[in-house]
Amino acid sequence: MIRRILKMGEPSLFEPSKKVERFGTAQLHELLLDLRDTMMDANGAGIAAPQIGVNLQVVIFGADEVNPRYPDAPMVPRTVLINPVITPLSDETEDGWEGCLSVPGMRGVVPRHLKIRYTGFDEKGQPIDRVAEGFHARVVQHECDHLWGMLFPMRVRDMSKFGYTSVLFPDLDDNDD
Ligand code: NI
Repeated sequence: MIRRILKMGEPSLFEPSKKVERFGTAQLHELLLDLRDTMMDANGAGIAAPQIGVNLQVVIFGADEVNPRYPDAPMVPRTVLINPVITPLSDETEDGWEGCLSVPGMRGVVPRHLKIRYTGFDEKGQPIDRVAEGFHARVVQHECDHLWGMLFPMRVRDMSKFGYTSVLFPDLDDNDD
């Protein structure tokens, strides 16, 4: 089911989320279906459970096709990631443009660790352990930030590089979110 996406300003977006304690449940399955439907409807690169009002450590990201909101972005594998832990693999950071379904119509430049290891669990509780770089690493860091109550504007350092998508990227097809 497509759920309402909470927007910046809603207090629960700034709260830390709780760990999932039971895997393979009907409730978790339904949450994942709702996240998928909501992300696909909004053309998101990823979505976190708090964005639909569920403060649990669950994110999904990635796609099998190019995303119209990020037409030039490299592909990221379709992933369900639960109770994630991110470990930076170098001190090097990279600036890149980000948007967020909870901050519609805006983009900003955010520094992220260039290379990370991320671990966690899939829907059934099977462990996930991956190394990611570049855009893939950025998406994981952005989505997991939602679980710690962080939204990307809180990480923008140069406010001259934060603004309306329609102004910054007038040629983007999908510039109204
Ligand atoms: Ni977001």
